[in-house]
Amino acid sequence: MTSVLSIGSLKTSGTTTLALTLASVAAAADIPVVLVDASRDKDLVSWQGKASTPRSLVVEAADDEAGLERLVRAARRRGDLAIIDAGDDAATIRAAARLSDRSLIPVRFSPLSAYAAIATDHLLTADAGKGRRGRDWCFAASSVTAIPSRIARMVESYIEQSETKRLEIGLVLRAAYEAPFVHGGTIFSLTDEVAPGLDRARAEAATLAYEVGILGRIAAPVPSYDVVEVAQAA
Ligand SMILES: Nc1ncnc2c1ncn2[C@@H]1O[C@H](COP(=O)(O)OP(=O)(O)OP(=O)(O)O)[C@@H](O)[C@H]1O
Ligand SMILES: [Mg+2]
Repeated sequence: MTSVLSIGSLKTSGTTTLALTLASVAAAADIPVVLVDASRDKDLVSWQGKASTPRSLVVEAADDEAGLERLVRAARRRGDLAIIDAGDDAATIRAAARLSDRSLIPVRFSPLSAYAAIATDHLLTADAGKGRRGRDWCFAASSVTAIPSRIARMVESYIEQSETKRLEIGLVLRAAYEAPFVHGGTIFSLTDEVAPGLDRARAEAATLAYEVGILGRIAAPVPSYDVVEVAQAA
């Protein structure tokens, strides 16, 4: 089971979107989650200021490694799930990964994102013996398009050369994932008028959360949307 998850890549690749989306699934399933914003631009802190957040989701800002460690340890003590947006800074990505059970390296199928993902993979490999025992990491595709370009396919095979595995499922490019950053709230609290395609986004996000090891924690009955059923069908 994943209790602490860090997400980061050395270049903008959908980190914050992935962190918020996964935290939203947990919150919708009544799993207490702390979204730790350790990124430079604090987009999650800004997101939190836009509208009321779900009851079981809190955003905390970490300004340095000591603060990050404090927040993660406190979440572990409470038994809460912690998801860290480690941003694009090498030292922060490394520090966040050391505190985590699992790390995700988001990758868009564009050359610069892929180069950054591989560089992030090397960073984590070089640091593998440090921090929590048994921690692991993998690539997670972000902003996937239905018809990949020839370049995207080449980039995909480049990523596949790494021994680090890529999750079976990623996040497709969908306006629904961007809507929370406009309106506040999450893909589980917004409505189709402001964020078309929510059903698919919710189902995909739940499947990804299951894959990442977040949803297996589920104990309580889920609210409005049946996240468990979707995840089990995956
Ligand atoms: N699956 C997706 N569907 C649609 N848009 C997406 C998706 N993932 C990311 N985006 C968009 O791509 C842009 C970058 O995403 P995001 O801010 O999540 O990346 P980041 O790696 O955290 O960037 P930064 O380096 O600025 O922190 C944003 O405009 C975001 O809305
Ligand atoms: Mg970000």
